[in-house]
Amino acid sequence: MTGQQHVEIDTSRPHPARMYDWYLGGKDNYPVDEEMGRQMLTLDPRVPVMARVNRAFMHRATRWLAQHGVRQFLDIGTGIPTEPNLHQVAQEIAPDARIVYCDNDPIVLAHAAALLRGTPEGATEYLQSDVRDPDAILEGARKILDLGEPVALSLIALLHFISDEDGAHELVRRLLAALPSGSYLMVTHATNDFTPEEAASATEKLKAAGVTLALRSREEFARFFDGLELVEPGIEVPHQWHPELGEPVPGQDDGVIPGYGAVARKP
Ligand SMILES: C[S@@+](CC[C@H](N)C(=O)[O-])C[C@H]1O[C@@H](n2cnc3c(N)ncnc32)[C@H](O)[C@@H]1O
Repeated sequence: MTGQQHVEIDTSRPHPARMYDWYLGGKDNYPVDEEMGRQMLTLDPRVPVMARVNRAFMHRATRWLAQHGVRQFLDIGTGIPTEPNLHQVAQEIAPDARIVYCDNDPIVLAHAAALLRGTPEGATEYLQSDVRDPDAILEGARKILDLGEPVALSLIALLHFISDEDGAHELVRRLLAALPSGSYLMVTHATNDFTPEEAASATEKLKAAGVTLALRSREEFARFFDGLELVEPGIEVPHQWHPELGEPVPGQDDGVIPGYGAVARKP
């Protein structure tokens, strides 16, 4: 990403990046996003807690990976910058960490400058690209990451926006195929396993507004890790994955968090 970009923002329908920003208390969202966000809250008032739990998983998983020697990260579905961002967590432990961010929503591009302020020893880059075009992402990532060395592929709260028709599992497989042994996959994903009725209503409401929500069972989530070695404790609800690596999110234990998180190593 170089220089000033002209960015077209579609404010006629809600966008996942901006709804998520609204849940997190950010200001980079529009009335359509808030309106749909409020509808989601009527189905489950804990959605903002879930968003924070998800973000906190990203922080802890990044910390774990940096502590275990990972120095390169490819984060797809980055979202609107919310401090600390992935590069800040990684570079606090490893100032030489190199991070490539990628999202397909122009609003993230509009705010990408905040993702590019890293350490002088490390590097950060932002790609405006769609996970459904993994070749374009890998080509862009190669300019800053050495794909001959391990990379952590970060797909945090992204894959539940990618349908089976769009080949979610195959896309992950193709991205991982380009990374060497010793690379990692970190994923969080919303599920309909725990609250199926609310999940079905949320999926319907979002669909009517033009947003795909592809909630997956534990088994379908586990398939993203086929051929990989899960890091202990394996597949968990996100706040129960290595809680010692961060602070608890207020309210996380007051009800169900309908999601899964896991980290796994490519052998
Ligand atoms: C819920 S946000 C998650 C942000 C961040 N990863 C986190 O967990 O804090 C989901 C992000 O995925 C992005 N996204 C959705 N579909 C995408 C696609 N096909 N390609 C790339 N990014 C996508 C959205 O624009 C949004 O920024």
